[in-house]
Amino acid sequence: MSLLITNIGELVTNDPAADDLLGIRTDAALVVEEGRVAWVGDAVRAPVADEVVDAGGRAVLPGFVDSHSHLVFAGDRALEFQARMTGEPYAAGGIRTTVAATRAASDDELSAGVARHVAEMRRQGTTTVEIKSGYGLSVADEARSLRIARRFTTETTFLGAHVVPPEYAEDPASYVDLVTGPMLAAAAPHARWIDAFCERGAFDADQARTVLRAGAAAGLAGRLHANQLGPGPGARLAAELGLVAVDHCTHLSDEDVHALREAGTIATLLPGVEFSTRQPYPDARRLLDAGVTVALASDCNPGSCYTSSLPLCVALAVREMRMTPAEAVYAATAGGAAALDRADVGALVPGRRADVVLLDAPSHVHLAYRPGVPLVAAVWVDGRAQ
Ligand code: NIG
Ligand code: FE
Repeated sequence: MSLLITNIGELVTNDPAADDLLGIRTDAALVVEEGRVAWVGDAVRAPVADEVVDAGGRAVLPGFVDSHSHLVFAGDRALEFQARMTGEPYAAGGIRTTVAATRAASDDELSAGVARHVAEMRRQGTTTVEIKSGYGLSVADEARSLRIARRFTTETTFLGAHVVPPEYAEDPASYVDLVTGPMLAAAAPHARWIDAFCERGAFDADQARTVLRAGAAAGLAGRLHANQLGPGPGARLAAELGLVAVDHCTHLSDEDVHALREAGTIATLLPGVEFSTRQPYPDARRLLDAGVTVALASDCNPGSCYTSSLPLCVALAVREMRMTPAEAVYAATAGGAAALDRADVGALVPGRRADVVLLDAPSHVHLAYRPGVPLVAAVWVDGRAQ
């Protein structure tokens, strides 16, 4: 079964061999075979296929790759958000509210929540999603969070080091021992990545290093939450450990930026967080001008950022973080793929997975130009219409 999508007004390929960042082709067509992109070229030269979709001159781009989300949770924190909007600050401790609700939920409830949010993401053009644990914080609850996440994605991340749970409040060192010992052993079979929240009120650099080293010994690749709430050692730790990505990066010194650049560590920016916590946005322009690769992700979670929308993140990145529309779209597609070390997604060139988004708009610019408007007209994952 082959599929031809033709009469594409603007095709964003993210072709690394192109002269422009997005590898844009106009009046283009795309052929999908066996779930992969088989051919890209001018519509007038398109080969025949079993099935034809007429894009009607609209824009087509690679599916968004959301490299950072926390979808395994129960309950919500609308009241905390409401309080923030009247001046309360965001603090890492709010995570414990969701931990209590998550521990009390059944597997079916947690699974239904993930399914609902993944479907919500899909409708907004996300075709690859990373999902973290981190609201269980016991051996059994972290393992089941990851088991549930695995039903939805291969990109699962063990985040036992999210905060110290209340029962270990007096003895954080023992909690780190638990995370690096029995919890890691129970989590590792269901995870690809290990993450830690390196921030005041969560874990310091030595604790985060210990957690990531233990994860590496168990075969998990590292990532970090860092420099979200204030300056700190996390970004430099990410560079020191040669991590593929470090996430948040809202408060960076010149030394941090330099270290990321030297290490080739990707800065994943999460503008939905600054929107939802009413904080200053990270400076994407400074990172890009310094030669750091930037990814954009949602960070969808019930506390700091309850949006699943990468189109919203693209719009915020353009309006608030001095990214061009092309840079923001690239960061939410190819950037996310790089942040997950995935060579099979994030671009529409022959051989890549046929994860394709058709916009109800003539160009990618409309994603930022028309914020809040549901522009995603159709989505294919692995070549299959969703
Ligand atoms: O990425 N920063 C740490 N974790 C989440 C927030 C989780 C929460 O508040 O529930 C984040 O922002
Ligand atoms: Fe997060």
